Order: sequence, then structure tokens, then C-alpha cells
Amino acid sequence: MIPVIMAGGSGTRLWPLSRTQYPKQFLQLNSNLSMLQETVKRLGAVDQVSLICNEEHRFLAAEQMRVMNQPCSVFLEPVGRNTAPAIALAALQAESEVRSLRLSDVRKDDEQQSPILLVLAADHVIEDEAAFRDAIAKAQPLAQEGCLVTFGIVPTHPETGYGYIKAEVNQPMPAGGEGQDALSEAFPVSAFVEKPDLETAESYLAEDGYYWNSGMFMFRADRYLEELGKFRPDILEACQKAMADTSADMDFVRVNSAAFEACPDESVDYAVMEKTDRAVVLPLDAGWSDVGSWAALWEIKAKDGRGNVLDGDVIAHDTSDSFVMSSNRLVTILGVDNLIVVDTPDALLVADKNKIQDVKKIVAEIKGAG
Ligand code: GDD
Ligand code: MG
Repeated sequence: MIPVIMAGGSGTRLWPLSRTQYPKQFLQLNSNLSMLQETVKRLGAVDQVSLICNEEHRFLAAEQMRVMNQPCSVFLEPVGRNTAPAIALAALQAESEVRSLRLSDVRKDDEQQSPILLVLAADHVIEDEAAFRDAIAKAQPLAQEGCLVTFGIVPTHPETGYGYIKAEVNQPMPAGGEGQDALSEAFPVSAFVEKPDLETAESYLAEDGYYWNSGMFMFRADRYLEELGKFRPDILEACQKAMADTSADMDFVRVNSAAFEACPDESVDYAVMEKTDRAVVLPLDAGWSDVGSWAALWEIKAKDGRGNVLDGDVIAHDTSDSFVMSSNRLVTILGVDNLIVVDTPDALLVADKNKIQDVKKIVAEIKGAG
């Protein structure tokens, strides 16, 4: 199994801490490790990880792996084209390595099969690492048999920023491998809906059998490429062209820029998961959060007696349910509730916690002005 970590997102919803030059996955948000380092750590000991990130973050990514003594190969994208192409690059690379083993005389039987990819986002918090690793182990026989495994989270509110998975809860999957008689904890997926509107998300919440897509997947490289080719041959073709002309430099692999730039921008959720009929969902109860906003970070952090998260040089009086973070000077707050205040050397955010998702509008305005 090859862990593939997608680390090319921009994390704009955590502005002003998360920046184009230094996005969310490289920040230490919930511990003294970055989100990317936490992603690697929770895997336990692994020989090799495959990272895919933007060219401009290569030294950040490589340095964060070096301090963890984690061998890795780093794919560099000249531009972000979202997750469907990013995963395709890793799958094509994995397949080409197996093909060269098949051609050599030293191959072993298990090296001839298409490798299983464990595709991970680089910016999630998972509290129960043992439960996570247990789910990974349970997913492997399913992936081996050709399923596209998703890890489903029981929804708690009608979040519109997630994908929703409708599970065939009355048809558990066979466990696979030698235990064919046993049933696994997974179910076939009857529908996958990426980022529904609020009304649709509310209707899913009212019904049984829906899970949030955690954004982590497990499948054989050949099966992903086959499904991508079926539904988005344009993306597959662009990625094949980009991979036909790579250049290696230390642990970095650069794909052909012009070919990759010509690739359509699409997430794996829209390109493959919504369309495939080979998806299965394995429920995951491991304290998962995608920390997609300041409000989500406030939710998971330790609070004082009045529900405040105070980080850095901060004094609060008569204040509740707020998140105040200061990176470089004293910040004081008095007589308010449900505020988010994030102070950095060159930008200050003051926001109503209930409207915090609109911070992306501010980022868009800044980018538009720049
Ligand atoms: N290499 C690379 N290139 N990585 C990328 C790119 C890219 O162009 N774009 C995003 N990523 C990385 C991000 O850094 C993150 O680790 C992961 O891919 C997921 O991307 P997001 O942009 O954070 O996706 P999302 O949160 O909107 O939605 C996905 O995750 C949700 C759960 O957190 C979807 O899979 C949803 O269905 C899911 O519910
Ligand atoms: Mg995300």
C-alpha cells in the first residue's frame, strides 16, 4: 500500500494565518506538528510516502518530512488542478513502477499486482489514530478486489462543504480475502453527492444511511485510472502526457508543465466518486474533523470556562465562545461573544463566528485587488 498525500490546497478559509505562500497543511494548528506531519505520523511507521504539492511549496514539504525522518517522493505541480489530476499522477507513477518490475526477472507475485493507494488529505485532524489505522486495515481487502473505498463519517449537521455518501446499509460487503463468508463493516454506495446545497444537506441529515465523505480514499491504482478514463478521459490523457515527460531532482519529480497546465481542473469527488458504481463506504468513527474554518478549529480546541480559545498573548474579559489568536503582540478583548479575532504581523481578522465561512469572500477581494 502506498500512502499518497494531497498537499496542494490553498486553505483560504483559515486566512489570515493560512496564506498562498504558507497554506493550512503546513501550519501547526492543533499540535506542535503541522497538519501534513500529523497526517504522516498517524500512519505509524511507513517505508515511503508519496506527496503531491505545488512547486512553490517544495522546500516546506521536504523539510517537514526531513525532520520526521520520513522517506518520501514529492510530485510537484506547476499549477493546482485539484485532486482528480493529482491522484492520477500518483496512480500513473505507481503503475509504471509495477510495470518495470513485471519486466524485470526479480519480480515477486505480489509485486506484479497494481499497487493499492491510500489517498489522504493533508489537513485533517483525527483524534483516535488506532481507530483510523484499524479502518485502513479493513479497507485493504476491499480495495484489492477493485472497490473504490471511501471512509464515511456520521454527519452531525447539514454541512454544505462536504460530500455526502448514501450507503446501502442493508447490503454489507463480504469481508474479502480468505474470510469470504464474513461480512465487512463496509456498504456499497448508492449515491455520492459532492457539496449539496443546504436544503439537500438537511434532507440527507433527516434520513438514515448517509455519511459525510471524509476525503480519504483507498483503491488500486489501475482501478482509479480505469474509472477516470471512463468518466474523464480528458483528465487522464492530460495527466498521461504530463507524466510522459518528467524530470527528477533529488526527491522531487516534476511533471511536464505545459501538459499539466492544459489539464482540466476537477476534484476526484466530481470526476470519479459521483459517477462510479464501484464505490463502497467504510464507516469511520475516529474523531475526524477537516478543520475547514476558524469555527471548526474553535470546536476541537480546548476552551476556558466561558468557551473561549485564547492563543498567544491574549487577555479576555467578559467574553464567551470566542477564538482569539495573536501571533506577535498583546490582543485584548472585552464584552463580546462569538467573535473570531486572528492577529498576524500584516493582517487582522475580526469576524462573527457564525459568518466565518465568508472569510473566503475577503480573500477573493484581496486577490482581486492584487
Ligand atoms: N496536490 C494537490 N493539488 N492537492 C490538492 C489540490 C491540488 O490542486 N487541491 C486540493 N488539494 C488537497 C488539499 O490540500 C487537501 O489536503 C485535499 O486535497 C482536499 O482538498 P480540499 O480543497 O480541502 O477539499 P474539500 O475540503 O473542499 O472537499 C473534500 O474533502 C471533504 C472533507 O474534508 C471532498 O473530498 C469532500 O467530498 C469531503 O467531504
Ligand atoms: Mg478540505
